[in-house]
Amino acid sequence: MKTVFFTGATGGLGTSCVKELAYRGWKVFAAGTNEDKLRELALLPNVIPVRTDVTDLEDIRAALKKVKAHTDRLDAIVNFAGLTAFASMIEGDPVSITKKLFDVNVMGSVMVNFVFFDMLLKAKGRIINCSSEAGWMTSQPFAAPYFMSKRALEAYNDSLRRELLYLGIPVVKIQPGPFMTNITKVIAEDFEKVTAGSGHYADLLPRVRPLVEMGLKQQCAQKKLVFVVIKALEARKPRLSYRVGTSRLLSLLEILPDKTVDRIYLMLFKHWGKHPGKTSLAHA
Ligand SMILES: NC(=O)c1ccc[n+]([C@@H]2O[C@H](COP(=O)([O-])OP(=O)(O)OC[C@H]3O[C@@H](n4cnc5c(N)ncnc54)[C@H](OP(=O)(O)O)[C@@H]3O)[C@@H](O)[C@H]2O)c1
Repeated sequence: MKTVFFTGATGGLGTSCVKELAYRGWKVFAAGTNEDKLRELALLPNVIPVRTDVTDLEDIRAALKKVKAHTDRLDAIVNFAGLTAFASMIEGDPVSITKKLFDVNVMGSVMVNFVFFDMLLKAKGRIINCSSEAGWMTSQPFAAPYFMSKRALEAYNDSLRRELLYLGIPVVKIQPGPFMTNITKVIAEDFEKVTAGSGHYADLLPRVRPLVEMGLKQQCAQKKLVFVVIKALEARKPRLSYRVGTSRLLSLLEILPDKTVDRIYLMLFKHWGKHPGKTSLAHA
């Protein structure tokens, strides 16, 4: 029976993947912190919930002990634990938001892969890191902590992949577009909070709301993501990265030079805001 340590197992996308893996006969060590969801996962055959806070090295080491009580080898580590935020970098509390996202989205994967590596090596297993389209697309305003953390995760992923070529361990990136999960709810709630507390963007943000709502409605079916994760886990030779559910509108921006993308944002700001900065493109 193949074995996997799966973080973010209690989340929207993670739970869907865990269910499919259990159905396909994998033994899944399902990690998360939400006790209710861990109890629900425990009802599935082949799923062993392991309460793990990925920001706490000692907690991850304790999880290792729990997993070792069942097996001495892992065929895969899947890092799906992740947070998002809609945040300004000049108002509110950008410092703690950015730190929190880096702790989970970047350091969480770094620590889990480090602590569980010996078990993975024994089975010549593979590592799957969940990035996002934010890991490769041009950065959007009010999303810096998420874009920064996913870019950092991709840099870590690529460096680790090359390091582990020597040991024959594949390291694979998943780069999902938008899917309806708790993350969608968090963006909508953060948007309202940032809008209510904003000084500089008080005119602009309420007018941007329809655009944000439109973005949140563009969601892909979760089964497509599950299919891709199964491929990354079970393919004899997995690809280096898998994109799934990529936003069509946003990917159009990828073919434009940065200066043109800035002009588009400035046009939107002029259209929606009363006081767009006059010098925004002076350095472009
Ligand atoms: N949904 C999307 O549109 C989308 C798009 C691109 C990429 N992604 C990526 O997909 C992954 C899963 O996201 P999702 O949409 O399923 O979000 P979600 O439903 O909010 O799930 C987030 C998961 O992260 C876990 N987590 C957060 N902080 C943690 C911590 N300190 N320790 C352990 N686990 C922690 C949560 O576990 P607990 O609640 O149990 O702590 C939960 O299982 C994330 O990496 C996300 O960036 C999602």
